[in-house]
Amino acid sequence: MRFMIDLHSHLLPGLDDGSPDLQTSLAMAKMAVEDGTRLMACTPHRTPGLYDTTADQIRSSVSAFRTELDKAGIPLTICGGSDIHICPELPELLAAEPEYRLAKSDYFLFEPPHQFLPPRLIELVEKVRAAGFRPILTHPERLRWVRRHYDVFEGLIRAGCLVQVTAGSLEGRFGSEAKELAWRMLDEGRIDIIASDAHNLTSRPPRLSAAAALIADAAGEAEQWRMTVERPASILRNEALEPVGMSSVEQVKMQQTPTRSRAPQRLWERLLR
Ligand SMILES: [Fe+2]
Repeated sequence: MRFMIDLHSHLLPGLDDGSPDLQTSLAMAKMAVEDGTRLMACTPHRTPGLYDTTADQIRSSVSAFRTELDKAGIPLTICGGSDIHICPELPELLAAEPEYRLAKSDYFLFEPPHQFLPPRLIELVEKVRAAGFRPILTHPERLRWVRRHYDVFEGLIRAGCLVQVTAGSLEGRFGSEAKELAWRMLDEGRIDIIASDAHNLTSRPPRLSAAAALIADAAGEAEQWRMTVERPASILRNEALEPVGMSSVEQVKMQQTPTRSRAPQRLWERLLR
């Protein structure tokens, strides 16, 4: 089995609406490993007024959970990050607190509101890009306004947002509208990575394999590999990635010829060293 990388999860206990306690977190970690994930970013919500997760909390919670994983013998490597809700002071916040970024790279999970399109969203992305940070737009297929404002979604990509679709959306776990949009984004070649956005063991589990199989069927093994291993690994190594959706669909398709020269297992081993 190819081992996968999951860059969006709410696995840390007691910080947000994800895992409530250590026992659940360990069970989720075990489930992720059994599903084929070996490296996971723990990304609690940072939503002002709702989840005021601090950088210190992320740092200490990742460290404590790493110890617990070792004690339990669960072979899951974790790193920190945050599912960070948009706010006007985002560039300053990211500069001041590396813990909010994925493994302290320049990349971070960028979460707009679900119910409405906020004003000046593209300008905010341009500001964070100008400050040297790299946004990854989380689950656009589940944002209620994206269907009506698809041009803004495309504008976010052009402004430099990578796109993370939630694995469960491709399976239909978030309803028919999210499924339809996720598949449209896949068909158009606009998805950079998939992630579980796991919150629990049941309705939002830490699984990628079912969606990965669907992607392999629809877009090929090579593209599935890029979405679940190669691009997440590049992000954690802080390599510069252009959004795949930035090119026209035709150009993206031409770029999606398999690149087998990079041996999967060796890439994995290099990342974990
Ligand atoms: Fe999330």
